[in-house]
Amino acid sequence: MINRLSVTQKLVLSFVFVIIVGSILLSLPISHYANSPETSYLDHLFNTVSMVCVTGLSVVPVSKAYNGLGQILSMLLMQTGGLGLVSLIAFSTYTLKNKLGLSDQDLLQSALSRDNQKDLKAYLAEAKQDNKKIGFVPTMGALHNGHLSLVQHCVKNNDVCVVSVFVNPTQFNDKHDLETYPRTLEADCVLLESAGCDYVFAPSVEEMYPEPDTRTFDLGTVSEVMEGAKRPGHFNGVAQVVSKLFYIVEPDNAYFGEKDFQQIAVIRAMVKQLDIPVKINDCPILREADGLALSSRNVRLTPEQRQKAPLIARTLKESANFAPEKSVQEVIDYVINTINADPVMRVEYYEIVDGNTMESIKNWSDTTYPVGCITVYCGEVRLIDNIKY
Ligand code: PAF
Repeated sequence: MINRLSVTQKLVLSFVFVIIVGSILLSLPISHYANSPETSYLDHLFNTVSMVCVTGLSVVPVSKAYNGLGQILSMLLMQTGGLGLVSLIAFSTYTLKNKLGLSDQDLLQSALSRDNQKDLKAYLAEAKQDNKKIGFVPTMGALHNGHLSLVQHCVKNNDVCVVSVFVNPTQFNDKHDLETYPRTLEADCVLLESAGCDYVFAPSVEEMYPEPDTRTFDLGTVSEVMEGAKRPGHFNGVAQVVSKLFYIVEPDNAYFGEKDFQQIAVIRAMVKQLDIPVKINDCPILREADGLALSSRNVRLTPEQRQKAPLIARTLKESANFAPEKSVQEVIDYVINTINADPVMRVEYYEIVDGNTMESIKNWSDTTYPVGCITVYCGEVRLIDNIKY
């Protein structure tokens, strides 16, 4: 039967075979890479093409001396030899990449992400010249659906969406927290691209702070209570980095998640003080099905802690059911005692404040905008959440 095929048919048959086998070989590392972003896809690619190269070394010329299966095999070897050439190119790229000291991250992200202000400003200058509306989402990476919902708001309401990914050292008052903060830039870029982000700005610490930022902000109560009191210097660091980012991007709109409720008030105060012409947009908290507020820190929870953590949101929600009938203090006591009853959890603070000024209230009549803000240690992991009463 094979003998009855024409040379062209045999050529096509062997070509199809090479394509199928090649695709399978190349797709295996792709799916592996997707599941473990820390593994280098280029390394897999290199291994695969090297394998093909070795197979294709024995190029056999198509000759009349070969018939039937022999002819198909010789064509097959010729084609794998062709793929061997491709592998040679991949090998050169790989060597060059190592010689230049580029990470896979640099290569994979080159289409979407840049790490220097100059490129970003050049990109934005064009957009601004065309009167395009610039939206901006500052993040510290390790993105989850909460961040992506900010990006969606940004994409929907602006012509250009810029996202920054920068783990800002000046806002960490705990060295261990800074060191262990999850960093997943490759995976972040994949998510951002699919969410419609136009530009990822992922600067180095040197790019953002060529010299130490010595500015000290005096933003009043909004930055002094709760997180401000528990994490000295934290909001000053946030104000430093966000103001720097605003000066670089000059966005029309910026988007922040309400999980960091107090942070939004601090940023509003900073923008007002520095007279930066940007509209601050707050976006609702995104939650897991069991109520746990989405946070980059959730990945640090052990399975047992992860199971316990929804107690925070559940308790806040329950408290809202009877809040108006009980005094402010009774509601606070209920929340703290219920959560602390679980040995894995420790409430650091729970305060009910005016949602604009962050000042604690004693009576419900003290404000028209009461918000309960909580921080809980679930094991070693510090989780925050809030509820509007
Ligand atoms: O909320 C955050 O992720 C950070 O505090 C921010 C606003 C990106 C500043 O580093």
